[in-house]
Amino acid sequence: MKEVEPPLALLAELTHRCPLRCPYCSNPLELARASAELDTASWKRVLGEAAAMGVLQVHFSGGEPLVRRDLRDLVRHATEAGLYGNLITSGIRLDAARLAELVEAGLEHVQLSIQDSDMANGDRIAGLAGAQEVKRRVARRVREAGLPLTVNAVVHRQNLDRLDEIIHLAVALGADRLEVAHVQYYGWALRNRTALLPSRDQLDAATATVETARARLAGVMVIDYVVPDYYAHRPKACMGGWGRRFLNISPAGKVLPCHAAETLPGLDFPSVTEASLSEIWYCSAAFRRFRGTAWMPEPCRSCDRREIDWGGCRCQAFALTGDAARTDPACALSPDHAVLGGAIADARAAAPGLSYRQHSAAALSPA
Ligand code: SF4
Ligand code: FES
Repeated sequence: MKEVEPPLALLAELTHRCPLRCPYCSNPLELARASAELDTASWKRVLGEAAAMGVLQVHFSGGEPLVRRDLRDLVRHATEAGLYGNLITSGIRLDAARLAELVEAGLEHVQLSIQDSDMANGDRIAGLAGAQEVKRRVARRVREAGLPLTVNAVVHRQNLDRLDEIIHLAVALGADRLEVAHVQYYGWALRNRTALLPSRDQLDAATATVETARARLAGVMVIDYVVPDYYAHRPKACMGGWGRRFLNISPAGKVLPCHAAETLPGLDFPSVTEASLSEIWYCSAAFRRFRGTAWMPEPCRSCDRREIDWGGCRCQAFALTGDAARTDPACALSPDHAVLGGAIADARAAAPGLSYRQHSAAALSPA
């Protein structure tokens, strides 16, 4: 028996291309061009390897996965390999014909993002006029097709005061589940942190709103709530621990333990073009680097939560301290915890201007 368990789920980032430009996108600042993306045959091989390893679910993501013309083929291939297929989408381009072909190919679940209950502000955040209107139509279509629907609402300082309306909207859209996720500060979100970080009062009010709504909506809609690390006392177990449960594949084929890992220096993440998924998961130096507890510094090393939160998030430790091997500053026991107070003070003082992710027209052309 192998000491390391196989991953449960694979996040397939098919592309970084996207019609939206959300300023909290977790994609890297350096977006992959269409010409760098893995081709259909490579993705099919990888999906087969994942299923053979014991992966149960594949999340088709991006960017916007609908930008890929081969999405239906990839969904079908995943279905035939025995993988549960979930589409994580902005909904833009998910017209009735496209949805029908994905359902026919075996798609089992849709996660649809919304940016706000206020249409104008939602479109402003998404960077695309008319986007929120399209999403409302798409949600209806998904329910009519009989698929379970999760609404993803990323919340931050510029929409958090409407959380109650956002919850009502998700119910009206027929969602089975609503994921209310505070922005996690990597990639574009880190660049926009001072404009997005909520105040403590906003956060407390939002948490109370979620608790009230959960009681009201028991049996109607499940609400998952991802709290912001910057006000935390203990960190999240990011990805359930490095290289323990999940793997990501970037559009160009890099195999990563999380969506932000490419920001970490000194780690050579192998590509699916160089080695099998199984070799990379079990044997690569990059996946072994922060797996388990042997790498941990104090105070994690002797902490009784070390196999609960696994020392928090490596990418956040790097973003905030410049060293991925330090305790996540979200932990109040971290010697770096005070940096979060500095970020909160900066946000309080800042004007809420946003820097939008950009794609060149060439990069957006469909593959
Ligand atoms: Fe988690 Fe480390 Fe903090 Fe303990 S010291 S709670 S293991 S991050
Ligand atoms: Fe990379 Fe948390 S996002 S370890």
